[in-house]
Amino acid sequence: MCRELAEEPLADEILAEPGWDAPLRLLGALHYLTLAEAVDVWRSPREVLAERREWLRDFVATQGVQTNEVQRSWVLLPLFLEVARRTGAETFDVVELGPSAGLNLVWDRYGYRYAAGEWGDAGAPLVLAGEERAPVPAELLSLRPRVGRRVGVDAAPIDLTTDEGALLLKSFVWADQIERLERLEHAIDVLRSDPPELVRGDFVEVLPDVLAERSAGALTVVFETAAMGYVAKEGRDRVFAALDAAAHHAPLALVSSGSPRARGAAHWGLYVRVWPGPREHMAEASYHGSWIDWLAGA
Ligand SMILES: C[S@@+](CC[C@H](N)C(=O)[O-])C[C@H]1O[C@@H](n2cnc3c(N)ncnc32)[C@H](O)[C@@H]1O
Repeated sequence: MCRELAEEPLADEILAEPGWDAPLRLLGALHYLTLAEAVDVWRSPREVLAERREWLRDFVATQGVQTNEVQRSWVLLPLFLEVARRTGAETFDVVELGPSAGLNLVWDRYGYRYAAGEWGDAGAPLVLAGEERAPVPAELLSLRPRVGRRVGVDAAPIDLTTDEGALLLKSFVWADQIERLERLEHAIDVLRSDPPELVRGDFVEVLPDVLAERSAGALTVVFETAAMGYVAKEGRDRVFAALDAAAHHAPLALVSSGSPRARGAAHWGLYVRVWPGPREHMAEASYHGSWIDWLAGA
């Protein structure tokens, strides 16, 4: 379909402002039509472009790419447990920067499988597993911290309690990625049982206020995956300044995705920082969380 659309003048016309994400917007729009109206896009993408030209033009102009990959919780859990190990905290609050729909904000409600053991509710509707290139230590998996308050700040949060929100998120998971779609379905059910608080806004602006509302004395773990990369250096510096300032008033930790060990490698380094200590490189992981390479326990 991509090859066909690449040669299709109508696609150029619909994507009035081509950018790096223009093909993703158009494919998301076509998948949305398939899911919402059972439009048979595969039969003839060209015909669908012609018939739904106005609708498609509006969708690609107004709807940004929206993904929320719940498999990332599988690579995040060991980092949350590492924070619990270092701080001794049995309960902490979590703040996610750029949570999209918040599927990774309810990470403690999924089940998990690792080589060294399981974690969480084995009967959970969603049990996450993946490939361990170096294993997550058993010592970490024995910890059972609880989440107190949970809040996320997103410029365009998706409300998964609505059919429209669920439809939108599914539209940006490609139709042949059956496992991802199934995981998403189960994660939506888990989230709907008790949705997290999502604040609409730019986290660069809003973070200081969110941190100011912390419960007195409680540890707060701020985390992000695939969100800080969208922010310019000046904004990232403001986020780090807000975190440094907040760490003077109450216990604070950061779990974040960033550069891998090898320059230019196409995956993430995963980091933990517990103030006042430095940021430490704990693991490497694939962008969507299908594998983890635990460095610290090696
Ligand atoms: C690629 S999605 C990742 C979502 C989620 N963190 C995950 O890993 O599945 C990026 C999200 O970050 C949000 N975002 C990017 N920059 C932002 C900013 N400055 N303030 C608030 N949200 C932002 C987007 O709206 C989007 O929901």
